[in-house]
Amino acid sequence: MLEDTSFAILPDRDGEKSKNRLIDIGNLSSFLYERNVASFQCDRGVVKVCFYDEDIVRIAFNPFGETSLRTSPAIIKQPHTVNVEIKETDEAVTLATEKLLVMLRKRPLRVFVYDRTERLLMAEEKRGMAFTYEGHVYCYKTMDKADHFYGLGEKTGFLDKRGERLTMWNTDVYAPHNPETDPLYQSHPYFMTVRNGYAHGLFFDNTHKTTFDFQTEADEYCFWAEGGAIDYYVLAGPTPKDVLRQYTHLTGRMPIPPKWALGYHQSRYSYETEEEVRELARTFIEKEIPLDAVYLDIHYMDGYRVFTFDRNRFPNPKQLIEDLKQNGIRIVPIVDPGVKADPEYRVYQEGVRSGYFCKYIEGDIFFGEVWPGKSAFPDFTNEQVRSWWGDNHQFYADLGIEGIWNDMNEPSVFNETKTMDIAVMHDNDGDPKTHRELHNLYGLMMGEATYNGMKKLLDGKRPFLLTRAGFSGIQRYAAVWTGDNRSFWEHLQMSLPMCMNLGLSGVAFCGPDVGGFAHDSNGELLTRWTQVGVFTPYFRNHCAIGFRRQEPWAFGETYERIIKKYIEMRYEWLPHLYTLFAEAHETGAPVMRPLFFEYPDDEDTYHLYDEFLVGANVLIAPIMTPSTTHRTVYLPPGRWVDYWTENILEGGRYHLINAPLDTLPIFIKQGSAIALGDVRRSTDMPDRRRIIHIYKNDEGTATYTLYDDDGQTFAYETGDYFRLHVDLEYSEHSVRIATRKEGAYHPDWELSFAIHGATERTTVIVNGEQQGTWDEKQRILWITDNKNI
Ligand code: NOJ
Repeated sequence: MLEDTSFAILPDRDGEKSKNRLIDIGNLSSFLYERNVASFQCDRGVVKVCFYDEDIVRIAFNPFGETSLRTSPAIIKQPHTVNVEIKETDEAVTLATEKLLVMLRKRPLRVFVYDRTERLLMAEEKRGMAFTYEGHVYCYKTMDKADHFYGLGEKTGFLDKRGERLTMWNTDVYAPHNPETDPLYQSHPYFMTVRNGYAHGLFFDNTHKTTFDFQTEADEYCFWAEGGAIDYYVLAGPTPKDVLRQYTHLTGRMPIPPKWALGYHQSRYSYETEEEVRELARTFIEKEIPLDAVYLDIHYMDGYRVFTFDRNRFPNPKQLIEDLKQNGIRIVPIVDPGVKADPEYRVYQEGVRSGYFCKYIEGDIFFGEVWPGKSAFPDFTNEQVRSWWGDNHQFYADLGIEGIWNDMNEPSVFNETKTMDIAVMHDNDGDPKTHRELHNLYGLMMGEATYNGMKKLLDGKRPFLLTRAGFSGIQRYAAVWTGDNRSFWEHLQMSLPMCMNLGLSGVAFCGPDVGGFAHDSNGELLTRWTQVGVFTPYFRNHCAIGFRRQEPWAFGETYERIIKKYIEMRYEWLPHLYTLFAEAHETGAPVMRPLFFEYPDDEDTYHLYDEFLVGANVLIAPIMTPSTTHRTVYLPPGRWVDYWTENILEGGRYHLINAPLDTLPIFIKQGSAIALGDVRRSTDMPDRRRIIHIYKNDEGTATYTLYDDDGQTFAYETGDYFRLHVDLEYSEHSVRIATRKEGAYHPDWELSFAIHGATERTTVIVNGEQQGTWDEKQRILWITDNKNI
């Protein structure tokens, strides 16, 4: 019928085609260097190049207007003024700092980035920057045969993303999480390339839907966006650690979490009543299984209205929270962004009256269905809304709550697109932009609102925030859990590369639902998963409504005994883990690391996804298949000590390791040290002891730095921390220990050293004084009297 109207002469499909045609940036005609920014005029616009540091350079090009140097909220640093040497020839212009050299070839304009040893990091041998009149922007780079790609946030699949095409568009995926399921809840348009032992990074600061294609072409990779500009940062490396430092310099680092956030956490969708929560806590206490937090999923609310409690189910939340806290257990309630459209509900009333909800340009509020039914969504891109939302947490803070769980913040909406209408117009602090452009920021901005709100309310105490959605920079506010996995062995396997890549994307504090969220778990799977959970930065058992319960005792005594042993082990290992959290806070280095992070010269580590390092020197090789009691373990070069047997294994090769159900294979690099503490029922219980376990070498030196602070305030930011630098010097029959203290904090615990791999003939000199007691049974040399430290 339409054919009878002017529709018949609608601009034809050729028009569509031309909209999709890729237009090259063209030739460079002139350039100008002014106030730290080089601007290159080319046929289709202006390319800007700006150094943020000697080893970080930003390259931007907007084919559709002025190339602006504004940034997304992912970036929190301004450029430093850097000395730049500029040279021009007929063919090219080069800009060089002490650490990087950017060359812009003129005809056509192509960008090449080198380090100062003239090692080529990025090249545009064929295509370079391009766009379509539909508004898409593209950037192509040469892909070397030796390139491996990591990072990209929360992705399914293996560790190395070469051969993949991955999209950034925060999405609630209940099922499935298969290797091809993409995207999930988080967007980190960032990756690290490792090539022949060297690493460099790239962050694409574009909040639209973006795609990273390491698949389509054999010799080129590409990143592109459905809108906005090409705007990316090259991070020079040269080590993976340097890339993380550079990336988190730009996007920020995790504040040190409160110690209780590092303990064992128990969750279920949902512990539905006060009595059920009390019963749960009682069982943990009776069974003496350590526990630091219980989560309240959506049933705690009155009709799923955030900032309320259902008084039938939870008659006295304040008392409940207080009683549990007496036992060192904290309550973490879920807070979703959807506000029930109920004219008698204060939060909804305030949001509507103040114009705080997301709206269409015409002024109508966007409504979507979530748990409470028809709901409105706060516009977190507006500072006033963030502060209003943050202040609303007074409700929780008054009840004694210190941790919040943000869920459904992609935002998830129960409709075809799974999210908000992309035509919604966000305020964006007076620079309105559509949801199409800002969708990926929703979780990050909600995180900012929640974290800052809680921080203000907690009066100097550290808040804990857990989030499902996020964008680059989310580590500044929240820990990330990897959403709705399932109780499958495959999902246990998948959680390793997923968390390692999140860690490489700046999110040091992450972990999956231990035991699996959906589907029925079983004793063996829960046991093996709990073993891994001990060493993932975030450690929470969570399970969905309608599936078998999976508390530590759910599958009978045999499993319970082993699960308890491993939860206890988490507490024993907290001093070392906390030290690694402090390192992540300072340098951006993840707690959970792929092996190549420490051994970038060892190509055998590039694909290893089924083992990981905790810090630099502890290697975990879990069992992740049923009825399995052994596995092969690759140990990188060096010698490694089996944590359980103390056998010494040569690295640089594979070993077949025996691991019955109660054994998680753990290996410690010979020569290194780890600090352990006592098993405690919760991190709130007295903390009396530190033992620095030293795995003796026959020669060489090593260092260990133990970090501690009060674990609950921000006093560490102003010098109230404790750092013990331990220098170790080994010979066949001796260990020399020299210590140096730093910081104003004085911990209460007593310090001992335990020397493994020693004999009764080994002499130990601590700060110049000979010490040590030989324990024949444990074959450990103890140094307990530490007055001279
Ligand atoms: C989805 C979350 O991913 C899950 O963890 C939670 O239990 C449910 N929403 C219910 O709130």
